Amino acid sequence: MSDFQRVSTGLHPRGADPVYRDHATTTPVDPRVIRRMLPYLIEMYGNPASRSHAYGWVAEEAVELALEQASSLVNADPREIVWTSEATESNNLAIKGAAHFHRAKGNPLVTLTTEHQSVLGAMPELDREGFEVTVLPVQESGYVDIAANGALCRARGILLHVDAAQAAGKCRSI
Ligand SMILES: Cc1ncc(COP(=O)(O)O)c(C=O)c1O
Repeated sequence: MSDFQRVSTGLHPRGADPVYRDHATTTPVDPRVIRRMLPYLIEMYGNPASRSHAYGWVAEEAVELALEQASSLVNADPREIVWTSEATESNNLAIKGAAHFHRAKGNPLVTLTTEHQSVLGAMPELDREGFEVTVLPVQESGYVDIAANGALCRARGILLHVDAAQAAGKCRSI
């Protein structure tokens, strides 16, 4: 049996499909997204960095449009958007990048026990590098007042990173 046949024989591990409740991790792609993406996967598959041919120009135009749409979704300037392959890469880039860049300002790092593993996983390395890492507990409800923390950090000139991987399109303002 080929690998494809093996994975495409369906779920039914014990006779019935289990109920899927892990949509925060991965979820079906909206057919409207698939319809918009298909031309770029089948016909217009140029590399947007290829400046010497039409395939590259078309892809670059599509990326520019996506940049405008992504930036308006999170109230940012298009020049502030950095494409990454996934949220784990984004968290690592933001946390380690900011920590290293601003090290001269001081080296305390504060995070929360409830953060995603991609945030917490960045801490041991920074700790080994000499940053003072503190992992705070949250209230019993798990609630974190991002707005209040944001205001406090802003007032004191402290950089705040929010892993809003699940928030895009769901919150009015990030
Ligand atoms: C809040 C949060 N941050 C980070 C991640 C990691 O996402 P990715 O699999 O895209 O690296 C997830 C994935 O579920 C997440 O929910």
